[in-house]
Amino acid sequence: MNAIQIYGGNCLMGETRIQGSKNAALPILAATLLIDGICEIENCPMISDVSHMLRLMESLGCDITRIEHTIKVDAGRLCMCDMPSDSVGVMRSSIMLLGVLLARTGSVSMQYPGGCVIGQRPIDLHLQALRKMGVVIEEREDGFVAETKGLNGTYIRFPFVSVGATENVVLAAVLAKGNTVIENAAMEPEIYTLCDFLKEAGAEIEGAGTDRIIIHGVERLHEISYRIPADRIVAGTYLAACLCSGGEIFLKEAPCTQMTAVIEAAAGMGAEIHESTEGIQIACRNRRKMLQELKTDSYPGFPTDLQSAFLVAMTLAEGSGSLEETIFENRFRIVPELKKMGAGITCKGNMLFVEGQKKLKGAALTAKELRGGAALVLAGSAAEGMSIVKNRQYIERGYENICQDLATLGVECKIIN
Ligand code: EPZ
Repeated sequence: MNAIQIYGGNCLMGETRIQGSKNAALPILAATLLIDGICEIENCPMISDVSHMLRLMESLGCDITRIEHTIKVDAGRLCMCDMPSDSVGVMRSSIMLLGVLLARTGSVSMQYPGGCVIGQRPIDLHLQALRKMGVVIEEREDGFVAETKGLNGTYIRFPFVSVGATENVVLAAVLAKGNTVIENAAMEPEIYTLCDFLKEAGAEIEGAGTDRIIIHGVERLHEISYRIPADRIVAGTYLAACLCSGGEIFLKEAPCTQMTAVIEAAAGMGAEIHESTEGIQIACRNRRKMLQELKTDSYPGFPTDLQSAFLVAMTLAEGSGSLEETIFENRFRIVPELKKMGAGITCKGNMLFVEGQKKLKGAALTAKELRGGAALVLAGSAAEGMSIVKNRQYIERGYENICQDLATLGVECKIIN
């Protein structure tokens, strides 16, 4: 059945350690292909998106050894540059390899990465930027061939913020000839972390983490070891679990400084929060207060990846409120599932209007994508009775073991194969 079974209603108690960040690990693994030698990446989350990226890298000629959360990549013998279409279609982050392969080999042919249920997820900004760097891209029915005689630094101003496009240009620019300026760059912590990794390997980058990044191309990068920081979205998911179920928990290694908007939203719902360098302590003793207006935005705004988890918390809060999704066009897929549990939600375009309920009741639920699937597990944890969340594979793309983590915090849940 590939599902998670939950008996809801327990208050959360205890502590759990937050895993390494998926969205930091993926671009950093791609960046190791820029280094003609061996890199060691520590605290890499053991999730299916990482496994998939590693398989893709091996198919391109990398030697990969993985011992638990530590991965060694030797990209010295990079050979192929035609990415296997079955891999590209399955995981959007394969687009992250475009910039590095062009930098290393000068030629890439690949299928368009899949959109997914949360939106079309085009790559037009990626391709426009690379064309400005001297890449000739011939687009075809289901994919494209990109070739360059050498990447040149250039000036790029993105019309709107794109995390992936910013990462792809940074990856293409670090070994390019000359300087690259990116205006309206994404400011997500994962961009800062990627630039930090590249600078430790010898890249020259200014403005990482701001909306204006300058990359001075260098000849080569050298081998390094690097530790992936904790995952702010996983930490925010478990913080929302406490908002849903109540109780008092400690999230070890949660990156507080990257979670200001999330912590503010949780405090706005009545949670008592204590931040420290060790992590986040959160206590929810009474019924949550409703967020009058929650709006997703690019960093440092409230992250779209926690929209579903906080929607679940809002369905159990007192009063009525609204939620606006501004990043993806189809990220309300869990609404019909939550309605099966008795949630009071009305959807109008990219807005949801929520009437808080005292309780949700357990139901048979179907996950349709990663973060919505995790949010359904939170709903089951807070609901009365038993819930089943099917399509567990979606959740395993980004969470090492959500069941074990939540069970450590007092949730009665288990995997059903
Ligand atoms: C990254 O996706 C994250 N994924 C997403 O997390 C996250 O939701 C998203 O950034 C926004 O923060 C990884 O880091 C692996 P975008 P990305 O380019 O880079 C449109 C998760 O759950 N757009 O910032 O694909 C796009 O359709 C995942 O961990 C174009 O139109 O997101 C979207 O509407 C989900 N053309 C908006 O921009 C382009 O060329 C923002 O997308 C590129 C993007």
